Amino acid sequence: MSTELIKTLAERDQSVIWHPYTQHKTASPPLAIAKGEGVYLVDERGNKYIDAISSWWTNIHGHAHPYIAEKIYEQARQLEHVIFAGCTHEPAVRLAERLLPLLPGQFSKVFYSDNGSTAVEVALKMSIQFHRNKEQRKRNKILALRSSYHGDTFGAMSVSERGVFTMAFDNYLFEVIFIEPNTSLSLQHLAYDEIACFIYEPLVQGAGGMHMYEAAWLNELICQLKQKEVLCIADEVMTGFGRTGQLFASEYLHHKPDIICLSKGLTGGSLPLAITACTQNIFDAFLQDDLYKTFFHGHSYTANPIACAAALASLDLLQQESCIDSIESITVSNRQFVQEIIHHPKVMNARSLGTILAFEFHSDKKEYLNKVKEETMQLALQQHVFLRPLGNTVYIMPPYCITAEQLQQVYHTLLLIIDHI
Ligand SMILES: Cc1ncc(COP(=O)(O)O)c(C=O)c1O
Repeated sequence: MSTELIKTLAERDQSVIWHPYTQHKTASPPLAIAKGEGVYLVDERGNKYIDAISSWWTNIHGHAHPYIAEKIYEQARQLEHVIFAGCTHEPAVRLAERLLPLLPGQFSKVFYSDNGSTAVEVALKMSIQFHRNKEQRKRNKILALRSSYHGDTFGAMSVSERGVFTMAFDNYLFEVIFIEPNTSLSLQHLAYDEIACFIYEPLVQGAGGMHMYEAAWLNELICQLKQKEVLCIADEVMTGFGRTGQLFASEYLHHKPDIICLSKGLTGGSLPLAITACTQNIFDAFLQDDLYKTFFHGHSYTANPIACAAALASLDLLQQESCIDSIESITVSNRQFVQEIIHHPKVMNARSLGTILAFEFHSDKKEYLNKVKEETMQLALQQHVFLRPLGNTVYIMPPYCITAEQLQQVYHTLLLIIDHI
C-alpha cells in the first residue's frame, strides 16, 4: 500500500507547502479543511468549526454558497477567461455598471485586478501618474496613517506601518509621511503642493490591530486634503461590502474618496478579484494623444469572467433584505457583547463597529507576535470556533449568514478564553 494513503492531509501538506504568515519551525500543523458549509469549516475528521473570521475577512455569505457556486459553474461553461486588454465581456461590464452607483462617491470607472494589494498598487500608481500626466511633477509625496496595513507588495508595504511585516524590506520601501489617527490636525507644516495622495483604511484599521478611530477626525482630514487637490484613496479592502454596518465605511463620512480599493468580500469570498474605482476627473488625466500617458498596468487574470460572475452573485445576495437584516442583527449583538466585557479586568479596549468586534488582552503593548495568539486559537478550536487573533488583539468578523445561536456560541467561546488566559 502506498504511504500516501495513510498520511493525513496535514502531514502531506507539511512536506510540500510553505504557508503565508507562518513560522514553520514552531507553528502547529495546519487545520486540514475538507469542506465548507455555510458558517462552518469542516476538517478532514468531520469536526465543524464556526469560521468567526470569515477566512481572512473574505467570506460574507458562508462557505460553498449554492447560488454563488451555480453562477460560477454557468460562467465557467460560457467563458472562463479572456485577455482584458483589447477585449471585454458581459460579467466585467455588468459588475461595473451595478457597482459604480453603489460606491460612496462620484465614481465613474472601474479598474480590475486580483487582490487587495494589487488594488492598492493600482490606486497608488494611478495617483502618482495622474499628477505626472498633468505636469504636476512636484506632487510626489504620499500620506498614510500610522498603524495602517495595505498589503504585502512593495508599494502597499511602503504605505503600511513599518513593523514586523515590513522589517526585512524596510530599506527598499519608499518614504511616506505618516499621520497618527485621532491626533490634532496641525498640518500646516505639510507642503500640500508636493503631496500626490493620501491613503487610509476608513474607520477600522484591520491588520494593524483592528484599530477603530473617529469618523469626524478622518472627515476633517479628507476635507482639508481635498481642498489642496490631494487625491484621497479609501482602502475598503476589508471594510467594504457591509463589514462596518454600512455597505462601505466611507458612507459614515461626508467627504468621499477619489479612489476606492475593494477586494475580499467582493466575490463573497469565493474567488480572487479586486477593483480600484476612480472618478472621471482621474480617468480624464489619462485620456491623451501622448501614448506615454497611458496607464501601463495589468495582470494576466484582470477581470476574470468567472470571478466577476461570482461578484455579481455575491452582490445579489448582499442586496437581499435578509442579508441587510443579518448585518444589523450582528451589529446590535456585537454592541451588547462589548458592554458585557468592557469592564472585565483582563480585557482592554473592547470595541465594535458593525460586524467587527475586537478587544485586547492586557499586555505591555499591542503586539503581533504575542504568544497569547496561539493559546487563544487552540482554546477556540476546542470550542469549535475558528479564530486567528492579531497577537493580543482578539477579534471576530463572521459571515453575515451566522445565526443568533451560532453568534452566541462565538461570544461564549470568547468568554471562556478570557477567563482561561
Ligand atoms: C485594508 C487592506 N488592504 C489591503 C489588503 C491586502 O489584501 P490582499 O491580502 O488580498 O493582498 C488587506 C488585507 O488584509 C487589507 O486588510
